[in-house]
Amino acid sequence: MRIFLTGASGYIGSAVLDAFVHAGHQVTGLVRTPEKAAEVAARGGSPHEGDLHDAESYRHAAEGHDVFVHAGFDYARGADTDRAAIDALLAAARAGDARRPRLLIYTSGIWVLGAAPMPVAEDAPLNPVANVAFRPGHEQLVLSSAGSGLRTVVVRPGIVFGGARGIVGEFFRDAVHGLIRVVGPGDNRWPAVYHRDLADLYVKLAQHAEASGVFHATDESDERVNDIVAAIAAHAPKTPDIRRVPIKEAQAKMGPYALALALDQVVRSPRARALGWMPAVRSIAGNAARLFEEWRAAAHPRGQDAGRE
Ligand SMILES: NC(=O)c1ccc[n+]([C@@H]2O[C@H](COP(=O)([O-])OP(=O)(O)OC[C@H]3O[C@@H](n4cnc5c(N)ncnc54)[C@H](OP(=O)(O)O)[C@@H]3O)[C@@H](O)[C@H]2O)c1
Repeated sequence: MRIFLTGASGYIGSAVLDAFVHAGHQVTGLVRTPEKAAEVAARGGSPHEGDLHDAESYRHAAEGHDVFVHAGFDYARGADTDRAAIDALLAAARAGDARRPRLLIYTSGIWVLGAAPMPVAEDAPLNPVANVAFRPGHEQLVLSSAGSGLRTVVVRPGIVFGGARGIVGEFFRDAVHGLIRVVGPGDNRWPAVYHRDLADLYVKLAQHAEASGVFHATDESDERVNDIVAAIAAHAPKTPDIRRVPIKEAQAKMGPYALALALDQVVRSPRARALGWMPAVRSIAGNAARLFEEWRAAAHPRGQDAGRE
């Protein structure tokens, strides 16, 4: 299959790139700098330089692919650019021979569900926290665009872990620097997913010709933030302080993002499981030692001795 991937240099996107390349597919990855283009090429993809904000810079290049994966996000520009990107990918997917099966995968997230102290699946009503208030509309646009040979899928990953990036990657970095900050009391549960397991789900979704609609991607380990940071702290070179920042104080500093981090969520992924998707790495706390090594290797690839001081 030929895959057009936005966010190819991103945390999720680079894992998705690796997974499709590993499965023998051809991936065109959207990037915005020559440096990121070189990274994508080194991972086995074909880079295309363009900007999510400027649909004309990539819409034509996207035409002719079989699968369109939107894993990019411009945090500086936000919802409008995301909407423009969906429109551009839909236009590219609809161009050409309408009989050719095509697939669009949109990356959303579990924060659209809001607080979920009891287990919820893909059929749960949405109650997005403020920083993702735009997401349900974008999900609906993607889902309602299916038809005439176009299959559409929305993936809602949990909080992604693995490697050096993301929210959990920041915990490892902070642990090395001696202070981990937790938003709120920390007894809330985070749905989580290992980056490479998440990427495998994207490949499965492309390979299952009947898969469409919403898919949660969580490892169902239901770990509390306190347990995650305690395990990370236990594997740090020197025991770091853990500071629990009152939600209001965190909100004043970080805005609505703080409310998302304080959510208590138990999120199930039955539709992905039904496709045979089985996360290989379940639990951040239970794998903290291994994840610390992964973090070191990814954050300091040239063998600098980070995290051992
Ligand atoms: N990480 C998580 O835990 C998580 C969980 C659930 C859902 N999500 C969602 O998944 C999506 C991807 O998240 P992520 O964690 O992978 O983010 P990320 O690491 O910041 O990646 C974002 C990607 O988008 C690219 N990008 C940003 N602005 C662009 C522009 N104007 N033109 C072209 N490319 C642009 C970035 O390119 P550069 O490399 O040049 O910056 C990067 O490749 C987001 O929608 C996020 O909300 C993430």
